[in-house]
This record gives sequence, C-alpha cells and structure tokens, in this order.
Amino acid sequence: MAGYTSHSHQEIDNTKYEFTEEELKQVQYHISKYPDKQSAVMPVLWMAQEKYGWLSDGAIQLVADSIGLSFAHVYGVATFYTMYFKRKMGKYLLEICTCLTCGICGGPEVLEYTKKKIQANEEGISPDGLFWVREAECLGACDTAPVMQFNNGHYVHNLNNDTIDKLIDEVRKGRLPEFVSIPLRDQSIIDD
Ligand code: FES
Repeated sequence: MAGYTSHSHQEIDNTKYEFTEEELKQVQYHISKYPDKQSAVMPVLWMAQEKYGWLSDGAIQLVADSIGLSFAHVYGVATFYTMYFKRKMGKYLLEICTCLTCGICGGPEVLEYTKKKIQANEEGISPDGLFWVREAECLGACDTAPVMQFNNGHYVHNLNNDTIDKLIDEVRKGRLPEFVSIPLRDQSIIDD
C-alpha cells in the first residue's frame, strides 16, 4: 500500500493518506482506460475526495504518486474544477438550483429554508459539519423544478420544505437517499 502524510504550511495534518490494495487496482483500471496516464487524474482525484471528503495536499500527493505524475500537475487539475474541494467542507453537500426555472418555482426559498434548517454558517456549513448547502446553476432537470443534487450524485426532484425536512432527518439517522437520476425522456416523442 502507498501511504503519505500531508505537511501543510498552515497546520499539521496527521492523516495518513493511502489507498488500499483494492483501491490501487481501481487506480490501475482508470489508467488502463486511457492512452496516457494524465487522463486518469480526474477519476482518481474523485476516488480520493470520496475517501477523505476533500483534497488536502496529502490527498493530492497520494493521487500524484499513485498515478506517477507530479504534485504540480495533479494540483493544477484539482484547483481548476469546482467539484473538487480544496478545503474541508460539510460531509454531505446539498446543491439547490436557483437558476431560471427553479428560481421561479421556489428554489431560492427552499435554499434559504435549508440554510436555516441546518443552521448554516456563512460558508453554508452546519455546526456539526454534517451538511454543506450551496446554490447551484441549472442541474438539467428543469421540468421537476426546484431540484437539488445531493453529494454530487443523487437528484432530489420537486423540492419543498417538507422534502428537505425529511431528507435532513433521514441523513441524520444515517440513511442516505437512494440514487435518482435526471428523468429520462421518451425519445419517440422527440422524434415524431
Ligand atoms: S433551472 Fe433548475 S434544473 Fe434547470
């Protein structure tokens, strides 16, 4: 197993960053999918973020060494995309769409309600660090507005204060929402 410890100039990070044998096999799988190993950076960064919740210098070093790239290269990718977190945020991310359709259908009001519900600080993080709420641009599911994306994957459609209450309460009990994707269209209707 490869293991690394982060040394931040700001504070000491005693986390031992390592991938298990199984995770290292997954890294190799990602590398094998592409003509060059640089292309594996994004999925392996995602693995590290899922594992540690954010991408500290130590996690980035782990990704770099696991693929065989420089820290600078991997750091550049991690800091370019907003879906990679360079700071420790809440454990579960609630992204509520306030774009045009969701904006008309109550997205901003649900966003404000959610912030109050989790007692979010200025950065949108709950005091217990469990939740992090932020505004999202169009999530591509406007016909079920307002919409929320949970932890970069699960969609919650037709949001209102009750669905927020239920979701927060369930997650606090350790029950995560089941995966629900963007609704798939009946292609035959579009083709006619
Ligand atoms: S405007 Fe919210 S999903 Fe499109």
